[in-house]
Amino acid sequence: MSSEFKKDHVVAIDDFTVDEIKTILDLAKKMVPIAEGKEINTDFQGKILATLFFEPSTRTRLSFEAAMKRMGGRCIGFARPGTSSAKKGETLADTIRVAAGYADMIVLRHPQEGAAQLASNFSNVPVINAGDGAGHHPTQTLLDLFTIREEKGGISKNHIGIAGDLKYGRTVHSLTKALSMFGAEMTFISPPSLKMPEEITDMLRREGIEFHEAEQLDGTLDDLDLLYMTRIQRERFPSDEDYQEVAKSYHLERKMLENSKDDLKVMHPLPRVDEIKPDVDETPKAKYFQQAANGVPTRMALLKLLEGV
Ligand code: CP
Repeated sequence: MSSEFKKDHVVAIDDFTVDEIKTILDLAKKMVPIAEGKEINTDFQGKILATLFFEPSTRTRLSFEAAMKRMGGRCIGFARPGTSSAKKGETLADTIRVAAGYADMIVLRHPQEGAAQLASNFSNVPVINAGDGAGHHPTQTLLDLFTIREEKGGISKNHIGIAGDLKYGRTVHSLTKALSMFGAEMTFISPPSLKMPEEITDMLRREGIEFHEAEQLDGTLDDLDLLYMTRIQRERFPSDEDYQEVAKSYHLERKMLENSKDDLKVMHPLPRVDEIKPDVDETPKAKYFQQAANGVPTRMALLKLLEGV
C-alpha cells in the first residue's frame, strides 16, 4: 500500500491532494470485484469499524458497513442517537473517546457543522466525516468523482451542472471544491435563496475556476456533459414555510433531456424526493443507482489506505 498516504482523519475533501484522490480512485477500481462479492478479501480480519450515525442514512452507513464486511472486518455502532448514551446527555467528545477504545476507525454523521473536526480532536483512531450538517461529505465526493471518471473517462474536461439546494447541500459543497481541484467547468442551478455559498464562489474566483449561475434547468441542460441533481434539504430550513416556498423548484423528466448531449449523464447523491421523475431512471443517462453502488469500492479503498493494509 502507498506509504505516502498518511492521514490521521478525513474531515473535508480538501484534506486530500489531487494525487491522493487519484490514488483512492485507482484503488477503488481494483476493489470492484470484491465489492461485488466476486472475489474474497480478508484484509480487515480482526478489525472493527464503528459507525456512529446521529442523523438518518441509508447509503453512507450501509456502504461503509458493506465495505468493511466484504474485507473481512466487523462493524459496531448505532443508526439512531436515541439508542446511544447521547440520549442521556453524553457529549460527542466523550462518545468519540469511548468508541475509539472499541474500534480501529470511526465513521461519524452528525447534524452539527464541524462535528467531525471536533471529534477528530478526541480520537486516537481515524475519524471519517460521513456528513456534518450542511458542512462536508468528503466520502460522497470520492464516490462521485469515481463515478464521473468511470462514466466520462475523466474529470477535468467536463461541463458539470450542479442543481438544487446549493445552500444547505453538503454533498455539493464538497463536490464543488473537488471539481475546482480538477479544473472542471461548473454551472450552479438553484433558486436565488439556495445559491452556492459565497465562501465557495469566492474561492472559485480566487482560483480562476470558470463557473456560471442559473435559476432554471431549461436552457442550461443542453450544454452539459453531466448533471448533478440534489434534493432540497428540508431538515435544514429554519421553518417548513421557508421550505415550501422552494420545495417544488425542480422536476427533471425524460422529455427535458431530449435535446441534451447523447452522452450526458445524470447523477444524484440520493435520496431523491421528486426532483427526478421515475421516467428518467430507465434512460442510459441515469447513473444515480450505479453511483450509490460505487460507494462500496470507493469506501473500501479509503479504509485500506487509512489503515495501510
Ligand atoms: N448520499 C447520502 O449521503 O445518502 P444517505 O443519507 O442515505 O447516507
